[in-house]
Amino acid sequence: MIKEIHEQPKVIRNTFKGYISALEPIVSLGVTREIDFNVLILACGTSYHAALVGRHLIQQLARIPVQVELASEFNYTEAVLSKTWAIVITQSGETADSIKALRKAKASGCRTLVITNVVGSSATRLADEVLYITAGPEISVAATKSFVAQLTMLYLLAFGWASTDARSLGNMIAELRQLPNRVHEILDREEAIAEQARHLAKYESQFLVARGVNFPIALEGALKIKEIAYVHAEGYAAGELKHGPFALLTPNTPVIAIAARDSTYDTLLANIKEIKARESPVIAIAGDADTEIDKYVDSVVRVPSVDPLFSPVVNAIALQLLAYYIARERACPIDTPRNLAKSVTVE
Ligand code: G6P
Repeated sequence: MIKEIHEQPKVIRNTFKGYISALEPIVSLGVTREIDFNVLILACGTSYHAALVGRHLIQQLARIPVQVELASEFNYTEAVLSKTWAIVITQSGETADSIKALRKAKASGCRTLVITNVVGSSATRLADEVLYITAGPEISVAATKSFVAQLTMLYLLAFGWASTDARSLGNMIAELRQLPNRVHEILDREEAIAEQARHLAKYESQFLVARGVNFPIALEGALKIKEIAYVHAEGYAAGELKHGPFALLTPNTPVIAIAARDSTYDTLLANIKEIKARESPVIAIAGDADTEIDKYVDSVVRVPSVDPLFSPVVNAIALQLLAYYIARERACPIDTPRNLAKSVTVE
């Protein structure tokens, strides 16, 4: 897992190269934006969290309505699917629930696109279009580099379909090109993150909260902690804690708050104050430029400051490292966690 975490700068670059023009602000994936089409994204596990980020990106940049469904649940819904691009995200291309959802979407008349890491996998043989994330073989059960490659592909898709002007698109493409360097900066902070993890490793229950485009990253961070450190960790929308989980907050339930300097920031600070009033230790994940956050929390995991649109990538990688070192501290078998499989081929 740690090897795959460290491959991520290269993986991001490999995923975007070939799709971005060196001369103009153009991203061409060969997947056309159809007039009046909606988007439906289907996925399981970590890929589902990438899908939730993708919804924000496509809606914000391309102004196309996007619905996201767990593949395992989509199979039991009476979906209305006229004029729809159904996008199935699956690292392995073999997940049974995702394959079944893909068949259903296709039979319902959707145009289908698969985003996968595995050439020739079952999903690629069923879909109308395929985009490969080129993350290279991912061996560790917990998905890391494939998640970040999926996010990279979703940025490209949103850019390819974007209805923004050429100048802002050019700026966003420039940010994407810089992202591998930002990721190197996080990886250079591994020891500082490991130190925070050693402290967190003693707690048996943790919450991760965020708002907006980082809410799926709270879900993904919690999944990583559960999968490899065997700690009960729950990702929550920051505004929802007061509707139930507050009853669980004590000095023994740390809360990791992902703070991005976007429109969610002030409300998140208000939520952090509410959490502190319940005496839970709060650890923020925040950008280098954010000096405000220190006044509200017990400690801060610093990540490089990036445009908030790209913050899910840097925050996800900080959380991968945090989960990894919590698991190390608890002496867990990180690459092969108990009861889990890399590819789940049963429903
Ligand atoms: C398994 C893996 C997860 C993965 C999920 C979906 O549960 O352990 O890491 O996110 O399957 O896999 P897929 O190959 O469809 O992305």
